[in-house]
Amino acid sequence: MGTTVVTGGAGFIGSNYVRHLIQHTDDDVIVLDAMTYAANESSLAGLPGQRVRLVRGDIADAEVVDAVVKGADVVVHFAAESHNDNSLNDPSPFIQTNLVGTFNLLEAVRRHEVRYHHISTDEVYGDLELDDPNRFQETTPYRPSSPYSASKAGSDHLVRAWVRSFDVRATISNCSNNYGPRQHVEKFIPRQITNVIDGVRPRLYGAGLNVRDWIHVDDHNSAVLAIVERGRIGETYLIGADGEMDNKSVIQMILRLMGADEHAYDHVNDRPGHDLRYAIDSTKLRTELGWAPQYRNFEEGLAATIDWYRRNEAWWRPMKAATEAKYAKTGQ
Ligand code: NAD
Ligand code: DAU
Repeated sequence: MGTTVVTGGAGFIGSNYVRHLIQHTDDDVIVLDAMTYAANESSLAGLPGQRVRLVRGDIADAEVVDAVVKGADVVVHFAAESHNDNSLNDPSPFIQTNLVGTFNLLEAVRRHEVRYHHISTDEVYGDLELDDPNRFQETTPYRPSSPYSASKAGSDHLVRAWVRSFDVRATISNCSNNYGPRQHVEKFIPRQITNVIDGVRPRLYGAGLNVRDWIHVDDHNSAVLAIVERGRIGETYLIGADGEMDNKSVIQMILRLMGADEHAYDHVNDRPGHDLRYAIDSTKLRTELGWAPQYRNFEEGLAATIDWYRRNEAWWRPMKAATEAKYAKTGQ
């Protein structure tokens, strides 16, 4: 395809996407990343320097964005403030990055007629009751709950408006909760794994009955590449791998897999406005593009992820203490 710009390519999903592109395409990659607290340059270690270039820059800066997008063939937009808990403590960077940043990218791809893919989340649809037989579909009305999910919902609306008003060649995907290597230790699964490594009891918000629909990051990224290559312009695709599980069961599985007592965790303060359940129906993606997840056994994927954090302490150790200090302030 030529040159792909990957915004947020030093973050969790973006860095795994860069690896996926290097492995599965001939593309050159420009990573545009502001290198916030969530980025980790070592997530790009070992990639071929002649094919991958890192540009440190803020997507909220229109000039920076224009210079990088000009001359590219595709932009895949992962960059975001991505953590719900942070958005409850200070929503302001979420507005700048997720809304203003997306606006700048849309204006740049419009000016330079570049293909654009927008990475979004299932959280734009709000939450489901535990016994609701329905799952989220592309037609489900938007009903975001948190400042994070509201800012992502707003950015999705911008993309649709730019497609309809300006004929921008864009697609959108909304994915469920990702797990796998290189995820920041503020997020649920890596936080508990690294706590257990440190001899600290895992922390379960509230009663822990909340359900998330887990998908391995490599499956998310293979779906994104399929959409970039074969998706219909203007369309939205939901990405999910039928991985629903409640938080309590996930913590117990982590403890078991790590050889600890499965009851050795603590209940802590719940998240305000905590969404109860997400669940994705990915029929459109599977039938239209022939995509299927490769990681079909969550326990095996989780065991491999635990193994990755055990073997890569140098990757996560520098961010662990500051992350836990932030949580201590909210009693979590
Ligand atoms: P992450 O927090 O790990 O990484 C975000 C990256 O974006 C970081 O490298 C950060 O430095 C960069 N960034 C932040 N603000 C920036 C700015 N103003 N300019 C340039 N770069 C900036 O996030 P993630 O979990 O990898 O999520 C990536 C995308 O996927 C986000 O758009 C998120 O909404 C979406 N998503 C995430 C999940 C999930 O489970 N993590 C699920 C569905 C969708
Ligand atoms: O659904 C997709 C979304 O998944 C993405 O859009 C977000 O970027 C991503 O962060 C994730 O959002 P969640 O809020 O679901 O993920 P998080 O890892 O923060 O929490 C997962 C669940 O675990 C949630 O119900 C809250 C709970 N939790 C979280 C932490 C950090 C705990 O019980 N204990 C914890 O210590």
